[in-house]
Amino acid sequence: MALKTTLAALVLTSGLTVGAALAQDPASAATTPGGKAVVVRQAHYKELNAAFRGLSEQLKSETPDRAAIGFGAAKMKALAADLPSWFPKGSGPEAGVKTAAKAEIWTDAEGFAAAATKLQAETAKLADVAASGDMDAVKAQVRATTGACKTCHDKYRAA
Ligand code: HEC
Repeated sequence: MALKTTLAALVLTSGLTVGAALAQDPASAATTPGGKAVVVRQAHYKELNAAFRGLSEQLKSETPDRAAIGFGAAKMKALAADLPSWFPKGSGPEAGVKTAAKAEIWTDAEGFAAAATKLQAETAKLADVAASGDMDAVKAQVRATTGACKTCHDKYRAA
């Protein structure tokens, strides 16, 4: 943000072209629909990750905030439901921006869909046990959910 502001100021005051510098900013580098989808997708994954972390942190507390856990689990469930739409055709390695999405996501669409469905099932369960208030069950379900993240990453995400 600060960098952008500075660059904008530079352009305004000196009329310099700063295309080379801007090209390093992933959001401005994404000029194709596929490239834009990558940027949006990565932001969604950051949200998913932040919700999962927040929830897991609460579980370490002696007095976990059940409302926060419920909120995080519901958010994860909603994001998982959306996940398949984050992968339009053209947003793979050919997108022209840096992405860890492997071509197999599209060449093995069935396998990828199964991995997404698995996450949907595990996060739905997570939301259910969070609502039940049984923190041991939540902990067990966090592990199952981590497994669903990992299964997909191992196969469809470049290291
Ligand atoms: C169905 C497959 C799939 C599942 C399930 C999945 N991921 Fe991912 N994840 C990916 C792919 C593919 C990428 C690479 C995206 C890219 O770079 O375009 C990724 C990228 C990420 C990133 C990096 C985003 C960035 O900043 O570039 C994070 C963090 C992440 N996933 C967290 C998670 C968490 C946490 C879970 C489970 C709660 C999860 N993922 C479940 C496929 C999956």
